Amino acid sequence: MAAGEMWVAEMEGRIVGYSALIKRRNIGVIAELFVRPEHQSGDIGAALLHQLLEKDLPILCTMSSSDPRALSLYIRAGLRPQWPHFHLAGGGMRLPDSMAKVDIEAAESAETRIITWDAEICGRLRPEEHAYWQSTHATPVWCRRDGEIVGYGYVHDVRAGGTNPASVILGPIGARSPGDADACVRALLRWSCSRGDVFHIGVPGQHPSLPTLLRLGFRIESVETFCCSCATAFFDPRLYIPSLTLEGTAFL
Ligand SMILES: CC(C)(COP(=O)(O)OP(=O)(O)OC[C@H]1O[C@@H](n2cnc3c(N)ncnc32)[C@H](O)[C@@H]1OP(=O)(O)O)[C@@H](O)C(=O)NCCC(=O)NCCS
Repeated sequence: MAAGEMWVAEMEGRIVGYSALIKRRNIGVIAELFVRPEHQSGDIGAALLHQLLEKDLPILCTMSSSDPRALSLYIRAGLRPQWPHFHLAGGGMRLPDSMAKVDIEAAESAETRIITWDAEICGRLRPEEHAYWQSTHATPVWCRRDGEIVGYGYVHDVRAGGTNPASVILGPIGARSPGDADACVRALLRWSCSRGDVFHIGVPGQHPSLPTLLRLGFRIESVETFCCSCATAFFDPRLYIPSLTLEGTAFL
């Protein structure tokens, strides 16, 4: 949490819950809200959330778990549910080209252009997250059609703990049009298919690659709900695939 704030709830000197907030300009992302199982339903989650609400950020959002307590707390706090977000996992499939053929090329690790592209598509300037991904040896890439950049992405090789089979996390992936968004995901999967056996990707319900990936045999691991305090989200879910944490939850 070097790039954000973390809060803990204590009871008799013991940590019983925690929350985490990442602020970028006027947007706050609640990245964590957890209470120890034996202390759940005891108002601790509400207290942790209330403390984040006091910051009075113009936009506050999160990816809620399906726990009814989480959804109820967020919705009552004004974070309205906007779309389902699917964590998919799959591998071993051969991806056909889309009509709009896109080529992938590794980007220079220090490139500021990728930070600018990401800021435009995900709605926040966040050099801290890019520095973090690069420190974990994620590979930034450009997606090009006929030589012109149409999107960007990151490929994370998950080697921590020597996972077997080797797994790969894709994201964030951003594009400027829905047609390119689907083509970028297909191209990125094809490009990275030799890097691992299992591929993980978190896909908003509206993203054009969701039916493509399910038709290819990707499985739904879990479904979260994007909740936000503003009626129109600050990014277009047809164009943006957030990253995932190693635990498989969305990293907006
Ligand atoms: C979600 C979580 C953080 C909530 O914290 P908590 O301390 O258990 O929750 P609280 O007791 O503060 O509040 C829960 C509220 O949900 C309400 N609630 C419980 N079940 C409900 C249901 N089925 N429908 C609607 N509301 C419900 C409760 O009435 C309570 O509200 P109230 O205090 O006004 O009556 C905690 O349960 C948890 O860690 N869950 C597992 C991890 C998780 O899913 N975290 C969320 C990540 S986004």
